Amino acid sequence: MAHPQKHPQPARPLQTAAPHAARLRLVEQAAARPGTPAEHLALEAGLLAPNARIEPKYLYDALGSTLFSAITLLPEYYPTRCEAEILAAHDQDIAALAQPVRTLIDLGAGDCVKAERLLPALRPACYMPVDISVDYLGQAVQRLKRGHPDLDIVPIEQDFSAGLTLPPRLAQDGRLVFFPGSSIGNLDPARALALLRNLASLDAQILIGVDRVKARDILEPAYDDALHLTAAFNLNLLRHVNHVLGSDFDARDWEHHARYNEAEQRVEMHLRALRDVRVAWPGERRHFTPGETIHTENSYKYTIDGFEGLLREAGYRNIRHWSDTRDWFTVFHARR
Ligand code: TRP
Repeated sequence: MAHPQKHPQPARPLQTAAPHAARLRLVEQAAARPGTPAEHLALEAGLLAPNARIEPKYLYDALGSTLFSAITLLPEYYPTRCEAEILAAHDQDIAALAQPVRTLIDLGAGDCVKAERLLPALRPACYMPVDISVDYLGQAVQRLKRGHPDLDIVPIEQDFSAGLTLPPRLAQDGRLVFFPGSSIGNLDPARALALLRNLASLDAQILIGVDRVKARDILEPAYDDALHLTAAFNLNLLRHVNHVLGSDFDARDWEHHARYNEAEQRVEMHLRALRDVRVAWPGERRHFTPGETIHTENSYKYTIDGFEGLLREAGYRNIRHWSDTRDWFTVFHARR
């Protein structure tokens, strides 16, 4: 999906030591994030385009992140379980390759559960979860702190999709970037390559989960489940956009639509108008005819060779990978 090029945001560590400071900091960021002119312009451009689109980052407010956590428990949504199986089976091999890990940087940390399982094997001194949903991350960090009192936890609020910015004081050696959940697949291949290049330039090794090309009848239900949690997750983006833009989307006017585009090797997520829909926001409006869609996300699928090629193009060598028993999902470790 074409999302407008953004300047990488500066790294903004959240305070975690003092609860008061943490709360103040979160409020400050919640107020600063929505409503910047650049953000409004980008949202408007997408909504007014002939093929309307909304950036997938709007999926992940606090409710969206909670819904996504629930999706990972669905029988149809296999990627999380496949990846957990791989990491549990090979965490010692990964640790042996990656040692010593001083800082574990977790991109799109969410509930921090995946990284937490790696802590005993990797034994980092510092854990740096990065996410765009600060409210959600704040809660996860409080929980993690209780279980790991000796771990230095430095949460960062950042949209890293156009490049990760690390705090300047971060130690140069022993950086491992963990990028699970096939989130790399939510970027189109050109942007995925750009992000991989950016990570390589940070002198970090990477541990990255990638969903594989497979049959449509496995892929499509993973993005269109019987309980309609994925539909709720996709529709919730409209509430989030209302909050940011002041628009008057009614989720009841839309339905979730997911389909595998085999030529592009990606599952596409759309919201489809159920009827004539008029949406207004300060200074603008748009009419959608029945059946018209808003494109919200792609989830690209890779072959092992295809992803290895991307890693090499980004400058990585020493590439290792592990797959689950069904060969549906692959975790790659690579360094420059
Ligand atoms: N990274 C996840 C994936 O591509 C994100 C995701 C899962 C998602 N289910 C979704 C995004 C449904 C939009 C709609 O698998």
